Amino acid sequence: MIRAGRVRVNNVVVTDAGYSCDPEGDKICIDNTNPIGVKRYIYAALYKPDGCLTATEDRRLPTVADLFPSELLGKGLAPVGRLDFHTTGLLLMTNNGLLSHRMTSPKWHVAKEYRIRYSGEPLGVKERQLFAEGLLLSERNSSPVRLEPAELTLVSEEECLLTIYEGKTHQVRRMIAAVGRDVVELKRERIGELRLCSEQRPGEYRMLSDDEIQSLFEATGMNQKDK
Ligand code: URA
Repeated sequence: MIRAGRVRVNNVVVTDAGYSCDPEGDKICIDNTNPIGVKRYIYAALYKPDGCLTATEDRRLPTVADLFPSELLGKGLAPVGRLDFHTTGLLLMTNNGLLSHRMTSPKWHVAKEYRIRYSGEPLGVKERQLFAEGLLLSERNSSPVRLEPAELTLVSEEECLLTIYEGKTHQVRRMIAAVGRDVVELKRERIGELRLCSEQRPGEYRMLSDDEIQSLFEATGMNQKDK
């Protein structure tokens, strides 16, 4: 578009693709239309596949960054929190550090819902009660911690949904282990009001809509100017 002379910066056609402009101060127009807004922050929902590290680089293993183009990674796109190597499902990616911090802070109580396939005796009302009261989880090198109340929904004799409001390391697997079952498959289906869309396949990402970004901002008390 630049080489074809379709781009104007402050009403002057620019044909040099290496030209630098100030995205916040300069008025950039394509084909004489209204100035385009340059967004500082980007927000994407990735369907994290199995066998992929929640990291931006690794010397040996595939990472979630391999699923994004370099233009987005160059803007500082990074995962918000982490899913285990074998956990699949919704992973929020952004370059907005403040939002990332608040989304993962227990202070903001953002809901994360997981679909769990497990082995062992079917879970029941007893476990639902234990989770609702706040499970006491033992820690390797320190005293046990009391978890925030969590909601367990029984789906079948080997499947359930679990909603948690904090994000301790391997929390879901440890909660399931604490009641004597093993996680067979773990998938995150929701963060706050954000979900994967039905057409999304493992490994695919999509950019968030304005309404979705707004809902994350509301959930974490963020100001409009930080959008
Ligand atoms: N809890 C876990 O145990 N693993 C995840 O990947 C996410 C939550």
